[in-house]
Amino acid sequence: EGAGLASARLELRRAIKGLLGCEPVDLSAEAEAGVGDEGAAGPAIVVGLADAVRDIWVKSASGAAGMHAGAGAGAGATEMSDIGTFGDEDYAIRSGNDGSVYLLGGGEKGVLYAAFGFIRLLQTGGDIRGLQTVERPAYPLRMIDHWDNADGSVERGYAGGSLFFNDGRLGERMDRIRDYARLTASIGINAVAVNNVNVHAEETRLLAPERLADVARVADVLREYGIALYLSVNFAAPIELGGLVTADPLDTAVAAWWRDTTDEVCRRIPGFGGYVVKADSEHRPGPFTYGRDHADGANMLADALAPHGGTVIWRCFVYDCKQDWRDRRTDRACAAHDHFMPLDGAFHDNVVLQIKHGPMDFQVREPVSPLLLGLRRTQIALELQVTQEYTGQQRHLCYLLPMWKEVLDFDGGDGRTVADAAGGLKREAGLEARGGGADERREWRGGLAAVANVGTDLNWTGHLLAQANWYGFGRLAWNPSASAEAIGREWIRMALGLDPTVEETVIRMLMDSHAIYESYTAPLGVGWMVNPNHHYGPNVDGYEYSPWGTYHYADRYGIGVDRSVATGTGYAGQYPAFAAAMYETPQTCPDELLLFFHHVSYDMRLKSGKTVIQHIYDTRFEGAERAAGLLTSWDSIADRLPARVYVEVRERLACQAEHAQEWRDQLNSYFYRKSGIPDARGRTIY
Ligand code: GCU
Repeated sequence: EGAGLASARLELRRAIKGLLGCEPVDLSAEAEAGVGDEGAAGPAIVVGLADAVRDIWVKSASGAAGMHAGAGAGAGATEMSDIGTFGDEDYAIRSGNDGSVYLLGGGEKGVLYAAFGFIRLLQTGGDIRGLQTVERPAYPLRMIDHWDNADGSVERGYAGGSLFFNDGRLGERMDRIRDYARLTASIGINAVAVNNVNVHAEETRLLAPERLADVARVADVLREYGIALYLSVNFAAPIELGGLVTADPLDTAVAAWWRDTTDEVCRRIPGFGGYVVKADSEHRPGPFTYGRDHADGANMLADALAPHGGTVIWRCFVYDCKQDWRDRRTDRACAAHDHFMPLDGAFHDNVVLQIKHGPMDFQVREPVSPLLLGLRRTQIALELQVTQEYTGQQRHLCYLLPMWKEVLDFDGGDGRTVADAAGGLKREAGLEARGGGADERREWRGGLAAVANVGTDLNWTGHLLAQANWYGFGRLAWNPSASAEAIGREWIRMALGLDPTVEETVIRMLMDSHAIYESYTAPLGVGWMVNPNHHYGPNVDGYEYSPWGTYHYADRYGIGVDRSVATGTGYAGQYPAFAAAMYETPQTCPDELLLFFHHVSYDMRLKSGKTVIQHIYDTRFEGAERAAGLLTSWDSIADRLPARVYVEVRERLACQAEHAQEWRDQLNSYFYRKSGIPDARGRTIY
């Protein structure tokens, strides 16, 4: 029996005991021990590889009470044609006519996902009769990236320290790591990068032979749950670790160093996922130093991983972070498209370009990155940020799924959505020619990746309700057409129980929260306005004259960044024709992105009928009020919640309500003073 089957069996035992209060009889374990009588009486939960348990399923008129795992004996044969085509991760849950339930996986991972799928049904109060579920993940890559440092800190982490690292050591909290693997696998995640994309000296050494034992121990636990471990690597590792004089990707000694290093990594870590690379970005080294391009860099690493089946996840977050604010032609938003579009089709088959959902950096409102739809001959992964760096740092409630859904559903006007693009669907010829497969999806390595929001805090995410983002990311990566609300309700039932009043209250809080957060922070898509470095709290000019290229250009006449083709930076022209035309003029640009694409006067009228300045005032006032309303909602279910849960979340919501007022006042005062235009409703603005 493989690790996936063993984990599935273990999870079912625990879940049945925990949820139903009875210890299931494990018939396969009894059979292995030579006791018990398989096939004794009554319905069972039959768990196993679709092929192996086919016979038992067919024979489902009679069975033993309890649980079978693995390949079972039995006679008979019939059609289960859909199961015949199951991939490793696909699964079916079926009810037999004897009352048994069959959890059938195409491979071991499928069995594990079937077990978790069934547990989810039990836990959410679903009907377990008449089940005919067949599930296949939409994407082969469903990845979580940890920005964890060797010293135990987490970059942009708001839930305590690192689960993986402690004082330079990796894998000391093995129980917690195992629980993390269970939770993460239960939402279908199959890839985890354990260290920060900013790879410092200490993490560079993770590739050193003496450190690999620690990495391997963590990988072993993740593997039991069908998760491949990835490492973020330092592009300059051949110099810093290997003692070479260069990290030039076209230098044969460099390529050989990576090959040898990778051979050893893969020898020590069976099923190693591959490398995540942040190169030539925010002071990290990369191929530009040697006059090479990013295809040269990524392909060299890909060649080292190819014999082992590994993947290079190459990030497209490449831009000039030493900008001069007076230079209005350089536009950070253009950078990823400028750098990577010319390389479309130049990457090897085991390279996936990981692209942030917006062209800037995980703001509460950004347009969709045009690179996601632009690349047609390159494998891609959409990168989301579960950790709430710019969305309230897990002190504010901000359920991110409504925003992610907008990203996934976005199409440039030709019916091909970002969700399609991340799944390699409807792409142009080129990849197929190399992959050679009839079924495009099988050859595709791309999908969804997200920056983790978990840490050593007991409730994993600091703000308990922020768990819904982690949960929701996994569920969307499995099925991007699921709705934000359905996923939210699932999470509520699993985390807070089946009380309908709790569910209705919390789902409204979740579903409203992103709009609320947006309505008291930076307006109309302009972004930022946060305190430098830690990025928490309002500071309208915090980044205005900095080198990072994140400007709003507010002056006494107006605000916003002209990114039109006609008079601005030209960014709008990076979109497919329909979207490009829509964003090009203030008249056609959607209100919520107006200031991202255009510099307009404060008295310009929005489609809503309000002027820009009045919109800013009104939404800041409403936003702060609605933030306070979240607290009132939570208080209304106080006696329906476990005391600790109530108190912990209440504390965060109270803090949010207070800080939302600060946002309101800082922004309203700033724009009142700048524009000189008073609030039409005469409210107090300082
Ligand atoms: C943001 C974030 C950084 C991070 C970077 C990245 O800029 O603030 O902490 O390193 O994104 O995605 O690489």
